[in-house]
Amino acid sequence: MDEPKRIVEDGYDAISERYTELSRKFDWAPRRRYLNRLVDLLPEGSRVLELGCGAGVPATVELARHFDVTGIDLSPASIEYAQRFETDHLHFYLHDMRLPFWINHFNYAFNFFTSFGYFKTRREHDNAISTIAGAIKNNGIFVMDYLNVHYAEDHTIHQSEKEIDGVNFIITKWYDETHFYKKIIIEDEIMHNEPMIYTEKVAKFSLGDFTEMFAYQGLQLQEVFGDYSFSNYDVKKSPRMVMIANAQIQVKSARWGIAVPFR
Ligand SMILES: C[S@@+](CC[C@H](N)C(=O)[O-])C[C@H]1O[C@@H](n2cnc3c(N)ncnc32)[C@H](O)[C@@H]1O
Repeated sequence: MDEPKRIVEDGYDAISERYTELSRKFDWAPRRRYLNRLVDLLPEGSRVLELGCGAGVPATVELARHFDVTGIDLSPASIEYAQRFETDHLHFYLHDMRLPFWINHFNYAFNFFTSFGYFKTRREHDNAISTIAGAIKNNGIFVMDYLNVHYAEDHTIHQSEKEIDGVNFIITKWYDETHFYKKIIIEDEIMHNEPMIYTEKVAKFSLGDFTEMFAYQGLQLQEVFGDYSFSNYDVKKSPRMVMIANAQIQVKSARWGIAVPFR
C-alpha cells in the first residue's frame, strides 16, 4: 500500500472511535441546518453518494431519511462503525475515493466538512474528482464544502483542549505555504494508555484550484456560497467555500486523455 494511503488508513483507524466521540460533541446545529437546506433543494428519493463519510453520523444517516444514500470511506474502523446504521436506503462501503466507484449511478455526490485535500499529489486529487464525475449521471450535481484559505489563516486557533468523559483531546493547528496541519493528541485518563497522536494536513486549495480541477473532469462550477447558511461567498470573510457543480455531457477524461461522452 502506498504511504499516504497507509497513513490516512492507520491514522483515522486508530482514532476513528475517539474522533466520532469528539465530533458528536461538536455544535452540529449549523451543519444540520445546512444539510436540511440541501435536502429541501433536491428531490426526495434520489441516489446520493457521500465520499469520505467517516462513521456516517450524523450527516450520512440524516441524508438517508430522504434519499437512497451510499457512503464510502477509506477507514475500515469508520466503515465498520457506520455499517450498524445500514437500512434499505443506506449503505456503507470501504472504498478509496481515488479509484472509480459505480459509474453513472448517482444523481448527487457530496463531500462534506473538508473531507478532501489530504493527498500527496495533484494527480491523486484529480483522480478523486474523476471518481465523482464518473459516478454521477449527466446533469447530476456535486456539492463540496471546503475551508476558505484566507479565513482559515486569519482564524487558526493554534492550541485547544477538550475533555470528554475522562478523555482529553489536545488539538494543535498550524500552516505553511501549501497546507494546514492539525495534530490531535488523545489522552485517556481512565484507560491509562499511551496517548494516541494523529497528524493530518489539508491542502490550501483556492476557488480557482477547484474550478480548474472540476472543469478538467467535466464538472462545471455553478454556485459558491460562503457558509453553511448559503450566504454570498467573500474570499476574505467567508469561513467556507460551499461549491455546487454540475456534470456536463461531454467529459474530458483526464485518466484516458481523450474526450468521451461517458454518460
Ligand atoms: C475529516 S474526516 C470527515 C468525516 C465525515 N465527512 C464527517 O464530517 O464526520 C475525513 C474522512 O475522509 C476519509 N478519507 C481519507 N482519505 C480517503 C480516501 N482516499 N477515500 C475515501 N475516504 C477517505 C477519512 O477516513 C475520514 O473519515
